[in-house]
Amino acid sequence: MLPNFISRTRLVALFSALLLVSTLAQAEAPPAKLANIVILATGGTIAGSGASSTTTVGYTSATVGVDNLINAVPELKKVANVRGEQVFQIASESLTNEHWLKLAKRVNVLLAQPDVDGIVITHGTDTIEETAYFLDLTVKSRKPVVVVGAMRPSTAISADGPINLYNAVLLAASKDAIGKGVLVSLNDQINAAREVTKTNTSTLDTFKTPELGMLGYIQDNRAHFYRQSTRKNTLDTEFDIGNLDVLPQVDIVYGYANVNRIALDAFVTAGAKGIIYAGVGDGSLAAQIKGPLAEARKKGVIIVRSSRVGQGIVARNGEANDDDLDFVTSDTLNPQKARILLMLGLTKTHDTKALQTMFSIY
Ligand code: DGL
Repeated sequence: MLPNFISRTRLVALFSALLLVSTLAQAEAPPAKLANIVILATGGTIAGSGASSTTTVGYTSATVGVDNLINAVPELKKVANVRGEQVFQIASESLTNEHWLKLAKRVNVLLAQPDVDGIVITHGTDTIEETAYFLDLTVKSRKPVVVVGAMRPSTAISADGPINLYNAVLLAASKDAIGKGVLVSLNDQINAAREVTKTNTSTLDTFKTPELGMLGYIQDNRAHFYRQSTRKNTLDTEFDIGNLDVLPQVDIVYGYANVNRIALDAFVTAGAKGIIYAGVGDGSLAAQIKGPLAEARKKGVIIVRSSRVGQGIVARNGEANDDDLDFVTSDTLNPQKARILLMLGLTKTHDTKALQTMFSIY
């Protein structure tokens, strides 16, 4: 019995010693270094204010400055070292190509700095999906870029802006967000810039990736990723906007029963270099618009068949003979995102085969 008793005593002593060592090690371990996150503010509802705490529509967008947004969430200091820049202060429906170029250039300058670990962009939700996709194609870094907005103004009861901002900073500070492309984060969810879209005019859960699915959740102060986009983005794209001050004019013609050529002709006359046709169904062309689109193509305008439906692949040579017409198809990109890819594509080439390849890899 004695040897067992001695060996048990030794085991208890050894375990106690190990426990003491690990406790001391943890006690002396320096606090984990917080990531340096820059918040670029552009306006929108997240910076909006209403007449009362129950005003959730009919408020004024883009009134609260970036420092006030940051000061309203003192918990940010627990997850990152943050500082803010007010890049714009406008409602996102009024953002232009020039705003996008200025924002993308600022992002690239900041991410090239070794003391910047990630960026959060506060933004109106109306065009958040477009800005996010533009950045997804033009940011030249693997560091996290997270675009965030809110569906209720900062003055409203249960405003979603503060928690959305907190989650966005936490996500941008997360090592798991590195190399995932530009992300859109609202409502505790993580979506990819390429696929996310606004699906409801006013509810908190409006941002979805309906069929291909979100990338993950932000929960319990952590980012939880379950998938990532398979399409090329950020450092893996061929687009360099460093020396660009203007983007080619690309406009969208909306398809509907009884559509006519008036809008198309106006865009072409105004100098559009590309037209996205938001066709019905699988990008179908009404008889009365097919001819005018072919005429525009013959004048050198690039035509991309997209769909107003919003989900699914627009099949090449499906509802129209794209080979004969020398049209491009938009893959799964909705019209507003197809416009962004075509604008950037036209800074590289007007060759329709090369442009079609871009729609299959980005
Ligand atoms: N004016 C809209 C915008 O700036 C408000 C919508 C919002 O930000 O949620 O996008």
